[in-house]
Amino acid sequence: MSLSIRPYQAGDEAAVYDICVRTGDDGQDATGRLDDVQLLADIWAGPYLFLEPDLAFVLDDGERPVGYVLGTADTATFVESYRKSWLPRFSEALPARTIAAGPEERQLLSVLRHPERMLCPELTGYPAHLHIDILPAHQGGGNGRRLIEIFVQAVTRAGAVGLHVAVSPTNTRAHGFYLRVGFERLHITGGEAFFYGLKTPAT
Ligand SMILES: CC(C)(COP(=O)(O)OP(=O)(O)OC[C@H]1O[C@@H](n2cnc3c(N)ncnc32)[C@H](O)[C@@H]1OP(=O)(O)O)[C@@H](O)C(=O)NCCC(=O)NCCS
Repeated sequence: MSLSIRPYQAGDEAAVYDICVRTGDDGQDATGRLDDVQLLADIWAGPYLFLEPDLAFVLDDGERPVGYVLGTADTATFVESYRKSWLPRFSEALPARTIAAGPEERQLLSVLRHPERMLCPELTGYPAHLHIDILPAHQGGGNGRRLIEIFVQAVTRAGAVGLHVAVSPTNTRAHGFYLRVGFERLHITGGEAFFYGLKTPAT
């Protein structure tokens, strides 16, 4: 099957949300794990599509997106825009979502409400960050490497001197992937996530 990588278009949003959920449990399918499973995509996909559409790219199987990379070239600016323009979209729905939420959803709602969690002084040399997810049928064939390369080119053009990614400690496959495609482990104090960083070619 021939797969191409192309810029994100507005009509891709539902497919990106679906991929985010189907890879949202440490790379495994999160469908059914939460009543409000869309929350995962409202945190880790939607704000990037909305605020940084030019830095989103999809892997397309000819019919629909089957993977994506998305992110920002400047995390600090992104956090400001998220608070100003993304969070207000939820202001009416959040109270009802919170009342209906179980313990895991409450935690995720707190993540959704606090974009400042992304700010970390130790990451200033790596101002860009990304999220990458590919459906299982298309993993392991070099598509992840291709998506990373395109994203690195895009944030380099946008002026970023480096990029970082936060990875769940238990997503062991992703740890091996990032090291293999050129990232190095960053030792950041506090929090549970593992961080990996990559300097851009312009640096
Ligand atoms: C993580 C993910 C994006 C990687 O994409 P992929 O298409 O499977 O990876 P690729 O085939 O492009 O692999 C690129 C290189 O990394 C290597 N690699 C991949 N996983 C590896 C691992 N666990 N350990 C060591 N090397 C690994 C590959 O062998 C390949 O090496 P090569 O190019 O030198 O031959 C993809 O598997 C995925 O979407 N997983 C589910 C969602 C997820 O976990 N996302 C990341 C959240 S932080």
